[in-house]
Amino acid sequence: MKSALKHSINYNNKLILAPMVRVGTLPMRLLALEYGADLVYTEELIDWKLMKCKRKVNHIINTIDFVDPVDNNVVFRTCDKEKEKVILQIGTASADRALETAKLVENDVAGIDINMGCPKEFSVKGGMGVALDANVENAKKILETLVSSLSIPVTCKIRIRKSTEETVQHVKELAATGIKAIAIHARNKDERPQHRPHPEVVKEVAEAVDIPVICNGGSKEIEKFSDILQFKKLCGVSSVMIARAAEWNVSIFRPKGMLPLMEVIRKYLAIAIDYDSHPANVKYCIQNMLRELQESEMGKRFLDAQTMEQIAEVFDMKDYCKQKQQEFYEKRLSLSRDIVR
Ligand code: FNR
Repeated sequence: MKSALKHSINYNNKLILAPMVRVGTLPMRLLALEYGADLVYTEELIDWKLMKCKRKVNHIINTIDFVDPVDNNVVFRTCDKEKEKVILQIGTASADRALETAKLVENDVAGIDINMGCPKEFSVKGGMGVALDANVENAKKILETLVSSLSIPVTCKIRIRKSTEETVQHVKELAATGIKAIAIHARNKDERPQHRPHPEVVKEVAEAVDIPVICNGGSKEIEKFSDILQFKKLCGVSSVMIARAAEWNVSIFRPKGMLPLMEVIRKYLAIAIDYDSHPANVKYCIQNMLRELQESEMGKRFLDAQTMEQIAEVFDMKDYCKQKQQEFYEKRLSLSRDIVR
């Protein structure tokens, strides 16, 4: 029996940050929202990795953390600011594991998405990502299980198939499971980011199904906000999901125009510091923003940086970083005193 949705999302007319491994962590999601994204997807989180985590309220930085009990690593961090807008993407090949994972986060996120488009060997070998494309029965079982058991909306993200007809048929079958929307990367499983996308296929699919279709795959041609609108128009849909263009400069979501990269990096870094992010993750994201600038003098100093303080120093934010870290230390101390009392 289908449970009534406690929370619904209108997936029409939305600008969306796409799921991106390592890139789509909390600071990037919050910055995307600040610049104009309406919804933000997490990076793909693999079911078995997330389902063994413990949910912890982090009173120092006011977040909800899902922590691996073995190594204490934070696998997923979220906060109130994004609660109504964050969609958690699961990598899965099992309805039971997907459900256990989704149940763990159900009260902390706005929706659940299933990755059915990842062509990487790791995903495919495990029966996840595009492997679900070839195993439609399992794909439908996963979606039906989630739809009937969760109080938040369920969606999935796929790639197009070799022909438009096949894609339409596939999306119709998935839509019949009760999902609230579907994101379509306008390339097939053998095409890579450098290949041209096929917006005309997305357009035909969108005309053939009743649920909102979110188009994706346009970043190659997206250099400014109006290019997003142009891609959306070509796809004949009202919602669009952006990955690489946002990875490079997340202010692409600003209707008033993109901001200079250094301003965006400093803003990103400030949020990353505020949320006590892991320096390796912060470094990875900034590297993807700097790109060829890594060859510059500043870029070389950045590549040598290891700690948050060292990273912050490169962008003249060392004092801010030290001040925040001191605040965290004092809060931690006072919280541990409260526990002892
Ligand atoms: C991705 N992509 C991706 N897709 C997905 O469903 N789950 C994921 O975790 C990831 N991870 C990921 C990481 C990075 C660094 C990139 C660049 C891409 C694919 C992504 O969401 C999107 O489908 C493609 O990049 C095409 O969209 P753009 O880049 O043309 O906007």
